[in-house]
Amino acid sequence: MIRKIMVTGASSNLGRSVVQLLEIQANTEVLAFAQDELDILDEEMVVATVERLQPSTIINCAGFNDVAAAESRLATKLAVNTRGLCNLARTAAKFRVYLCSFSSKYVFNGKSSDPYDEGEDLWPLNQYGISKQGGEEMVSNQLENYLIIRSDLLYGGGGEDWVSRIKEELGAGRSLAVSNDFFIAPTYIGDLAAATVALVSEWAAGVYHYTNDAGNGVTCYEFARAVAEHAGLDSALLKPMPMTEIDFGGPLNLPEHAILGLDQFKKLFPSLVRPWQEALASYMG
Ligand SMILES: NC(=O)c1ccc[n+]([C@@H]2O[C@H](COP(=O)([O-])OP(=O)(O)OC[C@H]3O[C@@H](n4cnc5c(N)ncnc54)[C@H](OP(=O)(O)O)[C@@H]3O)[C@@H](O)[C@H]2O)c1
Repeated sequence: MIRKIMVTGASSNLGRSVVQLLEIQANTEVLAFAQDELDILDEEMVVATVERLQPSTIINCAGFNDVAAAESRLATKLAVNTRGLCNLARTAAKFRVYLCSFSSKYVFNGKSSDPYDEGEDLWPLNQYGISKQGGEEMVSNQLENYLIIRSDLLYGGGGEDWVSRIKEELGAGRSLAVSNDFFIAPTYIGDLAAATVALVSEWAAGVYHYTNDAGNGVTCYEFARAVAEHAGLDSALLKPMPMTEIDFGGPLNLPEHAILGLDQFKKLFPSLVRPWQEALASYMG
């Protein structure tokens, strides 16, 4: 039997990788929609599309991810993370569709010294995190058959990302301020796409964390140095400093040590978890 999978936000960095992998899955029909083909803020259009195509599964890769800009753009761009997800969840409930969407480590406050498990209390510190918590609730309040995958800083989908920014700035001989006290688990988008396809194939339900394995986290500075070294660029141009001294264009609260625990995912697919250094090396060649 063919499984019809609809992908929204299909031209996002993650969406492109997910679609590529789905297209080579057996017994799968992929129905991919970029924003200009299906705006998830348009509920009527979402309902009409799902009614017409009758997918069994929706994977939503749309989102607004600019954490600093989110502080000042609440009414507009950020709505995709909450109202957009509400439209998808309501439609999925109506047509009994399994819905997968993506959330973020920003739902946690980052005060813990250990990685967070999926069930721990949410306590977002900024508007982006609040929008992601809201999106999660839109889904979990309306559906039983859903999958939320939380992740951390993504790179490698072909569009602009933190790796391309580091290469651009250092390549042009400009210095770059990078936090030495904000901890991340940098994640190659191809690996997150593979983890997503694996979970969706098993109809996994509930909340899962997935990142490349960074143990208890690496600082942005450590990651940026590794990128510079792989790219043969001058890492001395990186200026390590506390995150409170970095200019985000306005006040911004960040979760200093929000690292996502991977135990639940590892129990299902241990071979799909690899160290961040290995993922970065294979991406940067
Ligand atoms: N990037 C990260 O570091 C990160 C970390 C953790 C979790 N995530 C989550 O992973 C998912 C994918 O992230 P990404 O970095 O791949 O995203 P991205 O490259 O920033 O792309 C976001 C996509 O959402 C689309 N979009 C925006 N509003 C839309 C709407 N109303 N209807 C339909 N599509 C809309 C955009 O369309 P246009 O191309 O037309 O603008 C764009 O293609 C998001 O849920 C994100 O929150 C990302």
